[in-house]
Amino acid sequence: MDEMDGLDVVACTKCADLVESRSRIVNGDGPEDADVLFVGEAPGANEDEEGVPFVGRSGDVLDVELADAGLSRDAIRITNCVRCRPPDNRDPRSEELANCRPYLEREIDLVDPEVVVTLGKVPGEHLLGRDLAVTNEAGTVERVELGGQARDVLVCLHPAATLYDASQKETFRETIAKAATMAGAEGGQSRLGDY
Ligand code: URA
Repeated sequence: MDEMDGLDVVACTKCADLVESRSRIVNGDGPEDADVLFVGEAPGANEDEEGVPFVGRSGDVLDVELADAGLSRDAIRITNCVRCRPPDNRDPRSEELANCRPYLEREIDLVDPEVVVTLGKVPGEHLLGRDLAVTNEAGTVERVELGGQARDVLVCLHPAATLYDASQKETFRETIAKAATMAGAEGGQSRLGDY
């Protein structure tokens, strides 16, 4: 794939709107052989500025729960379905998801994680290939063919959901703990803080 250098997309002009709205392409972050690969929707303003996924408030929530589950952020890989910030933070369109899909599949192939964790409805539906009631289905695992190989996909809420609705924190926490178990992480740390 010419547009990619290893796991990184280095040049892409497939989505005209996103080429306009992005400051940069936001590639996945974290070890190339991570046991857990988290997949979000698309970069937001902070990610577009820094060039790293989940560095805003959602990322802070995720980091706290990862640490609590014994999974340091440095030990996981995190990426998005779409690598360029959509205008006005709108959801990525289906053709944009499709355009970016080969990059995501290649990343999944090369990282070869024990578990792929979808953060929110858009990545969940994109990878499971069906409608998803993410609040009801959070914490469930489905075996899915991705890039020609069967993968365990763990459905998770988007971290931002816990900011809008504190009652979702427990479900989010339990799902991250399940990801840690599936990845074989050992023990949890004491809580570093709350949000
Ligand atoms: N939300 C996402 O889905 N992805 C990010 O990178 C940041 C927030």
